[in-house]
Amino acid sequence: MSQFSPENIRADFPILEHIIYLDSAATSLSPRQVIEAQSDAEYHYRANVGRGIHRLGRMATHKFEESRETIKKFFGGENGILAFTRNTTEGLNIIANGLDWKKTDRVIVPLQEHHSNLLPWFRLAESKRIAGVDIVDKTDGFVKPEDIEALITKDTRMVAVGHASNVFGTIAPVKEIAEICREHEILFSIDGAQTAPHLPINLKEIGCDYFSFSGHKMLGPMGIGGLWIKEGSPLPTPEYAGGGMVSTVTGQKFTTVGNAQQYEAGTPNVIGAIGLAEAVRYLSKLGMENVAAHSENLANRMVKSLSEISGVNVTTPSNGRAHLTGAVSFTVDGVHPHEVAYFLDEAAAIMVRSGEHCCQPLMKKIAKSGGGTVRASAYCYNTEDDIDMLAATVEEIAGMVK
Ligand code: ALA
Repeated sequence: MSQFSPENIRADFPILEHIIYLDSAATSLSPRQVIEAQSDAEYHYRANVGRGIHRLGRMATHKFEESRETIKKFFGGENGILAFTRNTTEGLNIIANGLDWKKTDRVIVPLQEHHSNLLPWFRLAESKRIAGVDIVDKTDGFVKPEDIEALITKDTRMVAVGHASNVFGTIAPVKEIAEICREHEILFSIDGAQTAPHLPINLKEIGCDYFSFSGHKMLGPMGIGGLWIKEGSPLPTPEYAGGGMVSTVTGQKFTTVGNAQQYEAGTPNVIGAIGLAEAVRYLSKLGMENVAAHSENLANRMVKSLSEISGVNVTTPSNGRAHLTGAVSFTVDGVHPHEVAYFLDEAAAIMVRSGEHCCQPLMKKIAKSGGGTVRASAYCYNTEDDIDMLAATVEEIAGMVK
């Protein structure tokens, strides 16, 4: 695939002949190449990794470790280790639960975060392992470095930020935040769930300590993701102990391998990792600059056309290059978000997400009538026609309540 063409891409996603899929921020579809890479592994070299020495074990181990390197390179993360996790949530929990906190430590997070990047920190504070969580209490979709800096005290140990809001689709300036964290000698963790699928990411350039992401949102399988940790940044103590993560066992004591595998106790999701590496190869062929530009174009088209409909309130801000992840939130006066989503499916086979989007603290502030918002999220396989059909059907819904 030399040129970015949604029409060609769509041929790899047969389900799109029947539906308009605008829920990729929840989970993306997988192209047939990813599904075939997994079937090939299942049929030809399914075996455990890092253990036996028979030919299938050697082949599976080679493919698993090759997948790790492919994914690490995709994110420009050669200066760190990449542990396979189930998803972003697991990565964030490994960091929160495993770091060696002092009781006086504090963590800064924006209010607009997904629960995955709030609850692990709230739980730390509740269990008194840290002194507390300081919240950037803004709801405009933009995380500003100066708002973070204003909350830093001598006890701040960690800043944890979502690279993009899953509700608004807006992007956080992570490079600038990383610089501030470096200046103040504070750790910086990025929740990359919403940007890993859409943006070219170079972890070396960003300069964060931790980056967590999910495979299923970036054309890969469900149940596989990653936690990247910069070389030299504090390594969390692994949550699970067992086979595969251990170096030596003496009496009742053990030492762990000092690398990524220490976070992968037990048999890992080998087939998932192979599928995710294939997804990364697929995205690399499309070119992440192209993917980002396409997602941005579709999101801008959504913001524009939905804003023109009377009775529709677009909650995603419309300034600048804010929507590189293709997600847009809105409400329709007098219609519950779930009813809007249900009607979109029934009337036009359009799939969107509705509700609180795992962001209750934000929703309590921005969706005062309750019920949250409707979120439509586009990806590389969507077309402008999909967006126009969404807008036309939303207009029909808005017209029904007048
Ligand atoms: N985090 C996913 C979403 O935003 C599930 O929909």
